[in-house]
Amino acid sequence: MRKLIAGNWKMNGLTELSASLAGSLRRGADGLDCDMLVCPPATMISTVAHILVGSATMVGGQDCHAKVSGAHTGDLSAAMLRDAGASWVILGHSERRGDHGETDAEVKAKTEAAVKADLTPIVCVGETEAQRVAGEQNAVVGSQLVHSLPKEFQGVVAYEPVWAIGTGRTPSTDDVAAMHGFIRATLISHLGAAGQGVRILYGGSVKPSNAKELLHLPEVGGALIGGASLVDADFLAIAHAAQMVAEPPAAS
Ligand code: PGA
Repeated sequence: MRKLIAGNWKMNGLTELSASLAGSLRRGADGLDCDMLVCPPATMISTVAHILVGSATMVGGQDCHAKVSGAHTGDLSAAMLRDAGASWVILGHSERRGDHGETDAEVKAKTEAAVKADLTPIVCVGETEAQRVAGEQNAVVGSQLVHSLPKEFQGVVAYEPVWAIGTGRTPSTDDVAAMHGFIRATLISHLGAAGQGVRILYGGSVKPSNAKELLHLPEVGGALIGGASLVDADFLAIAHAAQMVAEPPAAS
């Protein structure tokens, strides 16, 4: 399966930076043997989508409301993201779970709303440092998956240990491989055979220097990248690392 290299710009990017990053991706990402996605702040989706139209790089949002419309000041529906030019959306990121108290049930409702609006969701899960130290990572991530993913889930899962996000620290490759194997088994037991085809991204301090070893691990279907996605050369270098580990084309 092709790797997905997804950039999460978080609350970064005025017009100048957004247009510059999108322009670099337009020039640098075509022809790569991986799927490319950027998720700018909502105010920049339209600008970035316009620059990337017809290119290999797709555009996504960073959150959506579970409702289609209504009295929800400051919120955006999935259809609004779609209308602005997004075809993907990140949901349940730990910063949303932390900053806005999002629960698994809310993430599940948002996931259903996203799919209905024709957006592909990337649902994020991951344990805190205290939970890992206590050996609770599988229980935490398993519970997040079962309660955040609808039974008919169509989308992508991102494993992002909270303690690895923006810290420069990553789990060992053994720990990433073990967690991705556990997530695959949980997806199959929760979703049935469809769980076999769900891409599982790793996220948390992915950079050009560690991308190849992380992307090469079994069951790692790509990466969700924060800080390094704001530097065009770094994001493209990670995409090149994904390409080097892509499966060879089937012999004809
Ligand atoms: P980071 O963020 O790459 O800056 O660690 C990843 C994420 O939060 O998606």
